[in-house]
Amino acid sequence: MTGSFQRSKHQAPAITGSYQSLHQQQVLLMLLTCVMMLFGTAVVDGKPPNIVFIVADDLGWNDVGFHNPTMITPNIDKLANMGVKLNQSYVQPVCSPSRHAFMTGYYPWKAGLQHMVIWDDQNVCSPLNLTFLSEHLQTAGYATHAIGKWHLGFCSWNCTPQYRGFDSFYGYLNGRSDYYTHTEQGFLDFRDGYNVVWDQAGQYSTHLYAEKAESIISKHNVCQPLFLYLPYQSVHEPLQVPPEYEALYPNVKTPDRRTFSGMVTALDAAIGRVISALQKKGLYDDTMFFFTPDNGGWVTQGGNNWPLRGSKITIWEGGTRVASFISGPRLKKTGYTYNGLFHAVDWHSTILSAAGLKSDPHLDSIDQWEAMQHGQEGPRTEFIYNLDDVEPATQGHAGIRVGDYKLLAGNVGMYNGWYPPDEVYTEGNIQRLDVDMNTGNLSYYKLFNLKDDPYEYTNLADVMPDKVRELVERMEKYHAQMVPAKNPPSSPGANPKYFGNVWSPGWCKEPMT
Ligand SMILES: *[C@@H]1O[C@H](CO)[C@@H](O)[C@H](O)[C@H]1NC(C)=O
Ligand SMILES: *[C@@H]1O[C@H](CO)[C@@H](O)[C@H](O)[C@H]1NC(C)=O
Ligand SMILES: *[C@@H]1O[C@H](CO)[C@@H](O)[C@H](O)[C@H]1NC(C)=O
Repeated sequence: MTGSFQRSKHQAPAITGSYQSLHQQQVLLMLLTCVMMLFGTAVVDGKPPNIVFIVADDLGWNDVGFHNPTMITPNIDKLANMGVKLNQSYVQPVCSPSRHAFMTGYYPWKAGLQHMVIWDDQNVCSPLNLTFLSEHLQTAGYATHAIGKWHLGFCSWNCTPQYRGFDSFYGYLNGRSDYYTHTEQGFLDFRDGYNVVWDQAGQYSTHLYAEKAESIISKHNVCQPLFLYLPYQSVHEPLQVPPEYEALYPNVKTPDRRTFSGMVTALDAAIGRVISALQKKGLYDDTMFFFTPDNGGWVTQGGNNWPLRGSKITIWEGGTRVASFISGPRLKKTGYTYNGLFHAVDWHSTILSAAGLKSDPHLDSIDQWEAMQHGQEGPRTEFIYNLDDVEPATQGHAGIRVGDYKLLAGNVGMYNGWYPPDEVYTEGNIQRLDVDMNTGNLSYYKLFNLKDDPYEYTNLADVMPDKVRELVERMEKYHAQMVPAKNPPSSPGANPKYFGNVWSPGWCKEPMT
């Protein structure tokens, strides 16, 4: 097989005329503004900032230096300390649903994406009638680039990044990949735009992504605002890192945690390279950074959320409350911690708002830019952790937050304990720490007051039955809007053997709707 991709018969429709001309008009206006600026006119107010949206994969609450001084993340810490740290920033318990929320501003359970992730060979993608953050920014004249992991479906080409608002994409389409061979289940999954990347085996992906970001930044036309979406592979399993990073953690006893810690520092170094490249190009002084993990740390894979309870894949705080921040020159108040409730869906409107753009008021997304920019009280009062009725339940569960209270129904997840860092947690031995399981019974409730009990030690359900009833009713209102989970069986046509042994789009006529 050659390196060229096989284009599917079922291609995305061409971009429509009106969309394109609007885009072109705006770009033209921006170019004119830029030319004026180059001729010495004062910087025009209202020029949108550059935006770097960093999504760290499976990074836990306790895995960043600004929460845990044993982690070596100087670049991340510096951005966080100069900016605004989010103390109550929530995401979905696993990858695809969070990414869907970031991109569309809709809860995943309104799109059938609430049950686990989109697996390699499922004909599912984030619904095509929803407009991605990247499409809005592209329409507004931004240059838009994605580097890293997609994981929003790829059965048809129109599910893939370049059909969803990105000028370019460099990375992989599935949910996991080997950091050196760039394969998943033995087949290559690595693309530069439409081309398969055959020649980077042996190169660590975190380094390759940093290099690609540098190259995009250095070639960027400064007359256009830049949107970099950096959903880096780090620090998802498999646990792999060049030895020099692992060597930075001689005091970490357990090998998995040591490797994982090295991976975190490699991620930090890659972010440092992006910062340097922006500085070199003269873009840094007008760049806003937005940073979030896609879910909590995976405790059996080196990640850690201590002192929060639980892990990735659960709707305990450890799976969903994440180490996030925003940083950059457009903030009017900096160096503080924002305590407003913030949910994954809010990134959509908040980032658009930072770019000076309004978002669709029907979205689940709440624009928190104004509040964060000035250090005001946040506008969000409640959110849904997840709604998933699928049985048997590896993840059949539901949860809601209203004010200080959190109600959980059914099986919260598969890791129900509190996991101090640097101990060995395997799928086998972790059961001993698991308490309070109630597999898949959605009428079994737990209630916590997160203000008094942020680590979820005390279930108040028996002593506060009225509160339980109130939150159950509230959750039922949302449940009425839930779309059944899309969880189709494997599609044999997805097999990479039909695509020259490369994971490739083009094996479904249409994604499941
Ligand atoms: C997208 O399509 C689905 C399925 O047809 C529909 O239920 C939903 O309302 C649509 N959403 C939007 C925002 O158009
Ligand atoms: C589910 O949990 C509730 C509340 O604890 C209990 O009353 C009910 O019997 C349970 N149902 C099943 C099928 O286990
Ligand atoms: C962050 O939230 C915790 C509750 O989980 C609270 O105790 C702490 O004071 C908050 N931190 C800041 C800096 O506001």
